[in-house]
Amino acid sequence: MNYFPIFLDLTALKVLVVGGGEVALRKVVLLERSGASITLVAPEVLPELQERAAAGKINLGIREFVPDDLNGSRLVIVATSRRAVNRWIASLSEARGIPVNVVDDREASRFIVPAIIDRDPVMVAISTAGTSPVLARRLRERLEAVIPKKIGELALWLRALRHTARRRLRDTDERRRFFETIVDGPAARRFVDGDARGAQSIAQQLLARTSATPRVPGEVTLVGAGPGDPELLTLKALRALQDADVILHDRLVPEGLLDMARRDAARICVGKAAGSIGSTQEEINALLIEHALQGKRVVRLKGGDPFIFGRGGEELEALSKAQISFSVIPGVTAAAGCAAYAGIPLTHRDYAHSVTFVTAHADKDGREPDWRALAKPGITAVFYMGLARVEHIAAQLVAHGAAATLPAAIIAQGTLQDQRVITGTLATIADVTVASNVQSPALLVVGEVVSLQSQLAWFNSAAPLEVSRSA
Ligand SMILES: C[S@@+](CC[C@H](N)C(=O)[O-])C[C@H]1O[C@@H](n2cnc3c(N)ncnc32)[C@H](O)[C@@H]1O
Repeated sequence: MNYFPIFLDLTALKVLVVGGGEVALRKVVLLERSGASITLVAPEVLPELQERAAAGKINLGIREFVPDDLNGSRLVIVATSRRAVNRWIASLSEARGIPVNVVDDREASRFIVPAIIDRDPVMVAISTAGTSPVLARRLRERLEAVIPKKIGELALWLRALRHTARRRLRDTDERRRFFETIVDGPAARRFVDGDARGAQSIAQQLLARTSATPRVPGEVTLVGAGPGDPELLTLKALRALQDADVILHDRLVPEGLLDMARRDAARICVGKAAGSIGSTQEEINALLIEHALQGKRVVRLKGGDPFIFGRGGEELEALSKAQISFSVIPGVTAAAGCAAYAGIPLTHRDYAHSVTFVTAHADKDGREPDWRALAKPGITAVFYMGLARVEHIAAQLVAHGAAATLPAAIIAQGTLQDQRVITGTLATIADVTVASNVQSPALLVVGEVVSLQSQLAWFNSAAPLEVSRSA
């Protein structure tokens, strides 16, 4: 992060603007809304600025800037047409520790001014750190279109409701849930549609109901996070993440995905990496139960789909025994996500009529997979957790009747930017895997469908970009 985003209260603080043209005028108009005490200095100024001075809205000095103008200033905006002068004023401001912005000169600026959507008191600020004003503008236009015009009034109404909620509801958890129901439900919808009375009546009913009913018990939602690309999260999963009080997540769940969770939700990594806690299944179950019993909304975030080699069933059994209510939000399992991003259709009318997901680990009684069934023609087999056993798997399939020429692929870090796809045959895949030095997590896909990969690869493939000559 190059810039730290803050909203500054400038009420009655001196802000110095140097420059008297259009740009300076735009900055003054913006600053006026903040309640700052504006001083503007320039040898020539637009009539609009003079009018503002005559109306007592700004202090105007029609003259060249002098260093003493900085005295008492808390913020400086420089907008003259002379670059050398701008930079000189910027260095003087820096020397005095006063944050300075030089319009259109990011290098000389200590702060930059974001693109904003102002629905007072709601304000959305967008910055591309000066890399692309056009992108910032486009983002603002898109957000403008989806943020209701009355969002500011909604915020003021919610503030008024907070007083009542503080008196009537028992604690912060209960109040937060009350406001989530208001903001996510019909009350806020009615309000932004212009029916403030209807919204108020829904809020009153909800308040009465919430304060009269026993405290809501905690619950656990098992959420599938998908194989890696955060955008493969379902809408329902996103909602659960944003509502959660506590998130217990696997080590494989990428940081980008956790960033989508509520900022103040407690995050607990229960993966097996060094330094994380709760690495045994019993400890994870105990943590889930402990937090749910405290009345928390717990999300158990698991890579891929919770019910596919995810021990989701075991966790639900423990919750069921402890009489904790639970629900499950499925996720894109690694086989589906990685095969799609690798360009390997798992079934295809010409090559495979079924697909089997197999764990490459022997089961807990030491039993091996049904190699004979997996070696049959016309099927695709996807091996999870198989990187260390590629040689064994390939040998077993050949020993049970599969052709040594049957295509096979390793997909590592599937769906992520560093995804790697390595292809070969049952005879060669073990050697190419070792030679390519691929790392976990990885899947082994075996079947005729793998032969389509060279033709259907699309993600991160180095296809030449067609650029029209006239562009
Ligand atoms: C314990 S299993 C969990 C599977 C998960 N529940 C699912 O539905 O995808 C972990 C295995 O999934 C596979 N896997 C998970 N994410 C992957 C990814 N991004 N790329 C390749 N394989 C992945 C690997 O075989 C890894 O060893």
